[in-house]
Amino acid sequence: MVVYRSSTTAPVNIAVVKYWGKRDPKLNLPTNSSLSVTLSQDDLRTLTTASASEAYTEDVLLLNGAPSDLTGARTQACLRELRTRRAALEDKNPSLPKLAHLKLLLVSENNFPTAAGLASSAAGFAAFVRAIADLYELPASPTELSLIARQGSGSACRSLFGGYVAWRAGDKADGLDSQAVEVAPASHWPQMRALILVVSAAKKGVSSTSGMQQTVATSGLFQQRIATVVPANMDLMEQSIADRDFAKFAEVTMRDSNSFHATCADTYPPIFYMNDVSRAAIRAVETINQAAGKTVAAYTFDAGPNAVIYYLEENSEAVLGTFYPLLQSVDGWKQSTNFKSTVQLDET
Ligand code: PMV
Repeated sequence: MVVYRSSTTAPVNIAVVKYWGKRDPKLNLPTNSSLSVTLSQDDLRTLTTASASEAYTEDVLLLNGAPSDLTGARTQACLRELRTRRAALEDKNPSLPKLAHLKLLLVSENNFPTAAGLASSAAGFAAFVRAIADLYELPASPTELSLIARQGSGSACRSLFGGYVAWRAGDKADGLDSQAVEVAPASHWPQMRALILVVSAAKKGVSSTSGMQQTVATSGLFQQRIATVVPANMDLMEQSIADRDFAKFAEVTMRDSNSFHATCADTYPPIFYMNDVSRAAIRAVETINQAAGKTVAAYTFDAGPNAVIYYLEENSEAVLGTFYPLLQSVDGWKQSTNFKSTVQLDET
């Protein structure tokens, strides 16, 4: 029996202006715009192969070799949308093979630990959507696909691009204007580097969905964040990227991470994603910047304790050389499972 097949990879992205808060949980529409940097696929990526065949009796997802749930509402929303588009294409071109009604086998593999607290869902849903869209030969741009991937996991919409990517929140109720766009390709600022410090490989205590829900519902500070802090940070961030102004890029990155974690601490009861080792990483960045006499490193933290440090290639020695010995003396650091330098950003 014929098996139709398509493979793709999608990279991890790490936000420098954070998405935090849903204005429509069902459609995954955000309360604010966000902006991220896409990391190198050599270091962190998901590889997904989508196959369709009459021989399959049900949709199946294998994630790192193990059967994984496909029945979640978000996954189903992505599948529904992709099949609807394929069916429309088949109606228009009767000579196309009828794939829309066939069951799918999806085989997905991360080249990093899924449970490491890194943004695996972003790369995962981006690869999932693109692999099926390619299999279905949908004539869709990354921005169009971002509308579908967003419904799987908000941050996934940014993983359809390399380089510097904005997710415009939009304000339409149907979410058709809530999509990702490229701000600049990686080649615009090829000296950019990211260092991932895996402080803890444990799964996060409060999921991003429930953390966002609680923050929107109970934090007063959050209202200020979405009304004034994020809009200003988006403007400053886009300008700093256009100007390749690292000191400005770094300051906005660190301030936005601080602001996001402050709103988490402002919820009731409070949510703490960072731990003592995370805070030691912040102090290490401050030490590096003081020693350099200018801002050469920036930290940012997602919904977990792991740090991502951005820096420019020319400052590799100062950043990498200083980080390791500094953190050697920090309690808890020696148990860290990884000390990873991701070099190069991706074009995708
Ligand atoms: O896409 P989600 O639902 O996993 O949420 C991601 C939220 C943060 O990683 C904390 C911020 C971001 O913009 O990626």
